[in-house]
Amino acid sequence: MDNIVIIDCGSQFTQLIARRTREMKIHSVVLPWDVTAERVREQTPSGVIISGGPDSVNEEGAIALEREIFELDVPILGICYGMQLLAAALGGRVASGDGHEYGTTPVKLSGEGALFASVPREFEVLMSHGDHVEDAPSGFHVVARTQNGVTAAMESGDARRFGLQFHPEVKHTQHGENILRNFLFGVCKCKGDWDLGDWIERAVSDIRERVGTDGVICGLSGGVDSSVAAALVHRAIGKQLECVFVDHGLLRLNEAQEVLASYAGLGLSVHSVDASELFLGKLKGVTDPEKKRKIIGKLFIKAFDEKSAEIKKGSKTRAAWLLQGTIYPDVIESGGKKKGAAVIKSHHNVGGLPKRMKMKLLEPLRDLFKDEVREIGRLLGVPSAIVDRHPFPGPGLAVRCLGHITKERLDTLRAADAIFRDELIAAGLYEGIWQSFCVLLPVKTVGVMGDGRTYSEVLALRAVDSTDAMTASWTRLPLDLLDLVSKRICNEVRGVNRVVMDITSKPPATIEWE
Ligand code: XMP
Repeated sequence: MDNIVIIDCGSQFTQLIARRTREMKIHSVVLPWDVTAERVREQTPSGVIISGGPDSVNEEGAIALEREIFELDVPILGICYGMQLLAAALGGRVASGDGHEYGTTPVKLSGEGALFASVPREFEVLMSHGDHVEDAPSGFHVVARTQNGVTAAMESGDARRFGLQFHPEVKHTQHGENILRNFLFGVCKCKGDWDLGDWIERAVSDIRERVGTDGVICGLSGGVDSSVAAALVHRAIGKQLECVFVDHGLLRLNEAQEVLASYAGLGLSVHSVDASELFLGKLKGVTDPEKKRKIIGKLFIKAFDEKSAEIKKGSKTRAAWLLQGTIYPDVIESGGKKKGAAVIKSHHNVGGLPKRMKMKLLEPLRDLFKDEVREIGRLLGVPSAIVDRHPFPGPGLAVRCLGHITKERLDTLRAADAIFRDELIAAGLYEGIWQSFCVLLPVKTVGVMGDGRTYSEVLALRAVDSTDAMTASWTRLPLDLLDLVSKRICNEVRGVNRVVMDITSKPPATIEWE
């Protein structure tokens, strides 16, 4: 079977390299930079890719790979910092200082190279480096340069060692996919016969091996990630998995019943907790967004904790694992946070739980992107009502019901939200949108209905396109559809007499309003 070893030197793009190989139906594993050559050999790789990273090879304490790795009898591609490591290890020279290049830059081929078959002589690439290879190692030739003359690509005479100063894995690099294909198929001779079905088989056997006879507890939210994680682990260990569903009363219309029915169809053992009164009671009078989030986070942990303790007590197996539906963008968001970075929103999740509950963390989806998680969900038979559901925040409607949260206002929001969703589905637009929802504003305006004056709240529609929620652009919905949604909401939903549309992208706004 094809197997590409990706050695992670700390680049924010490492998982993107893994993703590109998956897209080409090639299996890959990501290993940390301090992996031994022996361990790499054990993987019987078809090729090795060394990722970029923030260090400088000329600085003391910089990440360095075991020397023997460069001597392995497999093709090796170094990207950015990986190229510099390769150059330094094989006797080349890396220069620091002048010549930083960030952003897209044109490069020109200056020779023939195995990675550049059917790539034009000039194209734009994404560069993000301070250092660069000043002298390629002996036996190498420079294949491409930037307009400043910096080495952009080098190749060994035997076409087994390659370095790229730019990032072929990102979409901003023109022909990046072609260049990777040339390495993977042309040089490493991969066959490309691996797919997400194989990913499931591997994940299942890995989960079985790790968990053994222990028990696993999972907090289900009704969202895609936790549901797919549970379906996967259920396939691996069946009844050793127990799930907890906390209904905080901040869900959409009929959502709790619908997701519980789907879970039952999947054969999951779900313990549901109706904590809506408790949550609404504690949220009474609270309008500050961060306070809302903190209260909900705390109560959620408490409700989950109590239920899990009950499950553990009644269980014959040792419930030692906590399953979470963490996906790769979550990992980047938390890992990428620098010290002292501003907290935009305190995301509500059960991150604090494993420590308190002395449980080991199981995160089988942590290398995947959302669309891959959806695909895996489909392969596992998770119904479309869950797999294609738009992302929904942990604090639920609390962060979409601005101002005071009351049962009445939540019901108003739920009714409007259901209309918006139904009309998007009827228009065949729902699945193509990243996220859509309504926001109830604590602002009253004057209206006229029949012959009478109304004085009711404003409702905002929000729909965005995104790939990972880090950035988003507002969706240009058809005007006739907006007109229909607005009319239906004003006619059918009590408490709303005006509908507006949010036309702000992220940044500067966030997707949710609070
Ligand atoms: P923002 O509003 O920060 O949201 O642009 C980015 C994505 O995250 C979702 N979101 C949350 N998800 N707990 C979650 O699990 C939260 O507290 C939370 N807040 C926002 C949001 O819906 C969007 O998809």
